[in-house]
Amino acid sequence: MASKSPAEGGAEGGARIPNFFRMSVGERIAALHQRGLLSDDDVRLLASGEHTLRLPVADKMIENVVGVFGLPLGYALNFLIDGRDYVVPLVVEEPSIVAGLSGAARIARLSGGYQTETTDPILIGQVQAVNIDDLDRAEADLLARREEIVALANSLHPKMQARGGGALDIEVFRHHAPEDGRDMLVLHLLVDTRDAMGANLVNTMCEGIASLVETITGGKVFLRILSNLTDRALARATVRIPAKNLEGKGYTGEQVRDGIILANDFALVDPYRAATHNKGIMNGVDAVALATGNDWRAIESAAHAYAARSGRYRGLTRWYANEAGDLVGEIEMPMKVGTVGGSLETNPSVRINHRLLGSPNARTLAGVMAAVGLAQNFAALRALSTDGIQQNHMTLHARSVASTAGVPEALFDSVVEALIESGEIKVWKAREIVGNLQRSRAQPEAADRSSACGKVILLGEHAVVYGRPALALPIPLAVEAVVRPGGSGVNLVIPRWGLEQKIRPAGAQGLSGILHAMLDRLGLADRDMTIEVIPHVPRAMGLGGSAALAVAVIRALDRAFDLGLDGGAVNALAFECETVAHGTPSGIDNTIATYGMPLRFQRTPGEDTGRFEEISLARPVPLVIGITGRESLTANTVARVRQAWENHRRRYDALFDQIAVLTDAATDALREGQFEELGELMNLCQGYLNALQLSTPELEELVHVAREHGALGAKLTGGGGGGSIVALCPDTQEAVAAAMERAGYRSLVVTVS
Ligand code: MEV
Repeated sequence: MASKSPAEGGAEGGARIPNFFRMSVGERIAALHQRGLLSDDDVRLLASGEHTLRLPVADKMIENVVGVFGLPLGYALNFLIDGRDYVVPLVVEEPSIVAGLSGAARIARLSGGYQTETTDPILIGQVQAVNIDDLDRAEADLLARREEIVALANSLHPKMQARGGGALDIEVFRHHAPEDGRDMLVLHLLVDTRDAMGANLVNTMCEGIASLVETITGGKVFLRILSNLTDRALARATVRIPAKNLEGKGYTGEQVRDGIILANDFALVDPYRAATHNKGIMNGVDAVALATGNDWRAIESAAHAYAARSGRYRGLTRWYANEAGDLVGEIEMPMKVGTVGGSLETNPSVRINHRLLGSPNARTLAGVMAAVGLAQNFAALRALSTDGIQQNHMTLHARSVASTAGVPEALFDSVVEALIESGEIKVWKAREIVGNLQRSRAQPEAADRSSACGKVILLGEHAVVYGRPALALPIPLAVEAVVRPGGSGVNLVIPRWGLEQKIRPAGAQGLSGILHAMLDRLGLADRDMTIEVIPHVPRAMGLGGSAALAVAVIRALDRAFDLGLDGGAVNALAFECETVAHGTPSGIDNTIATYGMPLRFQRTPGEDTGRFEEISLARPVPLVIGITGRESLTANTVARVRQAWENHRRRYDALFDQIAVLTDAATDALREGQFEELGELMNLCQGYLNALQLSTPELEELVHVAREHGALGAKLTGGGGGGSIVALCPDTQEAVAAAMERAGYRSLVVTVS
């Protein structure tokens, strides 16, 4: 096999992202963006949901279209292939595959990752000829005129030759038709299709040479079609894993190694096992094929036909121990894939995924897919020969439930273990375990942390921009932070977002720029320290996460460096940070983050400031926040509403007046603890926000789910166009939260007192 050239682009050392699986969807996208793996455009497409195949395009692809079908798109991390880092896109519905791959790749990268080789990407076209009087003569004549046949084939697609590919050669085979009884000659046209999958091209060539084949053989050409047994486009991957890297879960490395070898031997001798073994390999290969817009049925049929090439169906991998006692794995399989044309042009997700892989050529992609097949096989065999696959599924399920329940970092592993132990892997159970653990554990670490509140706007968003009142409640403990002086420079660590970075000097953008400005204002820019942030609310979901982050960090700095800041100073500095982050903030977020109290806010006409009034609650307010996972596009929605207001001021002012009436009534209802009334006001307000076109199908679904499961009121909160909803749920918090999670959303149960 010729060895391949390295890919361009790729993840360049960025394939390791700590705690990726614990992040929210938005946080994962942000972490990939931050590492330069996703472009601004990719982020916009993913965040707005515009990355999927559009219906009008789908309607032109196949017949009788009635919709577009969805499947999860996940990214496997840690892949080191031919010395290059890859984040691998996977489209698959089965749990454990993405995690299994990331885990296998993490172990493999410790000993150099995967090495791959590929052949030229040759596709075979078949031309079947029958009714031939003299098969020997016909075969000899075809072979004698191969140059003429190849030239004719190339004349049908001259561009492929210009790209360095094209028809290369022919081969001729002879068969007897078992039922029909006739003999046949089958001509194989070997075509290098370069970066195209090449099916249409080869079919065109086969049809184009048919009459020449008839003339040469004196027979009749019947079928003219490519072969999916693409054994001239092979990919091979190998990996070497020292036994010590395999130990764990009560097994020595040698035991795991020998278990994997024995499990693989089973697939080499028994076709019943081989079918399952190869299915596991295809779990990975097909998922990449789908994500990269390749024909997974073609790859499947090639793989299984190749697995039976000896006359007996066998596993596609080999695992053995080398002289040093290391485990060595190898896979060789056909991998005819394309990296140009087809769904790359029609499906924006496919384009994003190719970019994520560094826009590889077809051979590089084939090598990556072979490595993924080998990694998936390793994950399956290791699980099967140790804990068994169900245990693994259970652990993953428990982790995902713990993550949905918003289990704090420090308790995560204990909660996962306790969930499995309890046999009740449910969100409510995870929260119960967290409560128990928090009560029973002395938490010296937690005591070192400074915290700040997030906010949820109960009523009045958008109208507040036009001088009407807004009513907001705090979300306790939204962000925690701790500052440790020492080290070198200023390091920012946010494990939940997988972020570890140095705070650069002035001029830096985003969070780094904001924190630098903050340190500068506090006279700490020259000090060495690590700032650790533990966010408990997702960012960009309209929950005041950025102000809470600023306040928690300011407080942690105050504590670490004894600055003696009072509430007013913390609030003022957080407001400055919000100004850097958002332009012209109302001041609600930083005020709630600092003081953590329910507020009524009204902007002073013509000014950036306004009047805050603390609201005293008659009783605790039981809320559930439903999170769409889609970034709240506040700046856009504010601009859109402003445009509408400028076009029809009286009409929109009347709407804002109505919202103000509801907000004032809601303030009274809160003061008096009248939840029925408050719920109704929230529902009415959602109607007005809908009239302002701020809702989205996801927000509507969350509102509907909340009301269906007993919420007294539910409405979008904050900017709209994504973000979150807030639901008032006396006695129904658990039911509403669980229903939101069943519908595929994250939820936060918050009781404000
Ligand atoms: C399940 O989708 C795949 C496995 O059955 C593969 C195997 O048994 O090797 C776990």
